Amino acid sequence: MKMNIAVLPGDGIGPEIVEVALDVTKAVCKKFNHELTYKKALVGACAIDAVGNPYPDETHEICMESDAVLFGAIGDPKYDNNPKAKVRPEQGLLGMRKKLGLYANIRPVSTFRQLIHKSPLRQDVVEGTDLMCIRELTGGIYFGRPQGRSEDGNVSYDTCVYSREEIDRIVRLAYGYAMQRRKKVTVVDKANVLCTSRMWREVAQEIAKEFPEVETEFMFVDNAAMQLVQWPSRFDVIVTENMFGDILTDEASVITGSLGMLPSASVGLHTSVFEPIHGSYPQAAGKDIANPLATILSAALMFEYAFKLTEEGALIRKAVSASIDAGIVTEDIAQGGKAYRTSEVGKWIVDYILSSK
Ligand code: IPM
Ligand code: MG
Repeated sequence: MKMNIAVLPGDGIGPEIVEVALDVTKAVCKKFNHELTYKKALVGACAIDAVGNPYPDETHEICMESDAVLFGAIGDPKYDNNPKAKVRPEQGLLGMRKKLGLYANIRPVSTFRQLIHKSPLRQDVVEGTDLMCIRELTGGIYFGRPQGRSEDGNVSYDTCVYSREEIDRIVRLAYGYAMQRRKKVTVVDKANVLCTSRMWREVAQEIAKEFPEVETEFMFVDNAAMQLVQWPSRFDVIVTENMFGDILTDEASVITGSLGMLPSASVGLHTSVFEPIHGSYPQAAGKDIANPLATILSAALMFEYAFKLTEEGALIRKAVSASIDAGIVTEDIAQGGKAYRTSEVGKWIVDYILSSK
């Protein structure tokens, strides 16, 4: 198969982890005889520094021409705690989501048996957790207008907006995934307070009727936040709006023990983007110590979701699991054993893939 991807390393540890994930992608393409072409482009703080725009037009064009985008991370401390900064790296990410029409962010949360003891939750609570959080990504309070400040500067406001169409397409996507999984959808909202949430519920109730095999439950977001840590294995597919999803996915990400393990896929209208869910970890930038597994697992999602190549994705997952078993891991999950470098973990996984039968 011909695969044409855009590679956006971004800031902080982004370049190191993306380099490793790209090596893994190349190895899989070699193994399975796929023809890979790729172009690198700037995004985030490095793009502001280079051209004054966190999501330059050139980067957008490269993404639009690609079948999939492999993304690292963005963010730089020099822009944090500076509310007066005119352009921020995060605007690049939000601009990219909007312009590429990436309306669904999919974050699978499953456990690696070998790492379960790293979870802040008790082992018996975590065991069996295998959920998929589907977060709406281009609407809600992140993008609603008006947004701003009063003239005297003493009042500020954001607006949460959802159209029926925006809710419909993401809820349908959630049911599609549930049909391939354990056939349960939890719609998370705040319908006891918010008008947008009441419409979410109304639309979801209509769609639920089309999927009688799927069990549907509605849950307020505060309750969902609690149940996620109390009984995470009860969830199959969670679907929710942008801001609730932002918060719940960070919460869900630590259940498994390490933020450095979780991949994500953002899908939508023009292309799809695959990225680790962790940030740019600036303190570790350039040190070759960051855990590359979330980005490598994002490459696995890329093979599966963007190219429908399931065997390729499965081999990457197998290689990652084998590297953990062999103790070839970075310091965050080394648990007293030897800690390996980002590049060493990458090389081990590449070798595993190339030499697998
Ligand atoms: C995420 C991040 C972003 C978000 C930030 C960096 C704008 O937290 O991808 O979850 O809030 O969506
Ligand atoms: Mg977030």
